[in-house]
Amino acid sequence: MAARKTVEDLFIHELSDVYSAEKQITKALPRMARAATNPLLKDAFTAHLEETQGQIERIDQLIEISGLKLKRMKCVAMEGLVEESKELLDEIEKGPVLDAALIGAAQKVEHYEIASYGTLIAMAKHLGMKEAAGLLADTLAEEKSTDEKLSAIAEEGGNQAATLQK
Ligand SMILES: [Fe+2]
Ligand SMILES: [Fe+2]
Repeated sequence: MAARKTVEDLFIHELSDVYSAEKQITKALPRMARAATNPLLKDAFTAHLEETQGQIERIDQLIEISGLKLKRMKCVAMEGLVEESKELLDEIEKGPVLDAALIGAAQKVEHYEIASYGTLIAMAKHLGMKEAAGLLADTLAEEKSTDEKLSAIAEEGGNQAATLQK
């Protein structure tokens, strides 16, 4: 892998990494939507799949306006998170417990993305790439709102489970 000597090198590396991460998520989300029982959770996964496709297009757009070139690489961190979500599907029966586990797995993904986009925005600003920073901020906002939506569904699910036990 090429050396990362400058902030621009680092930016390209991080951007290529998150590009790979988003592509991997588009493959994982349909599987997670199918596995979810709570219709709100199913919808959240499906909605975020669509959003994620837009996020990939946003990176393509960023590449076009900046004239940078992405590196071919695989985000190994996302590979691990996706792998762990697959393990849940193998090990837990469909229902509220799997839903809770899927929410946890999805929130790990969102937090990874939130960290990645936060870093990318800081680097884009450092490099004077205002338009790129704006595009990345749009995606960051979507990741944050997805994370919040998942937290709300988790709380709702927990409340329902508690009511059923009474
Ligand atoms: Fe994303
Ligand atoms: Fe996301």
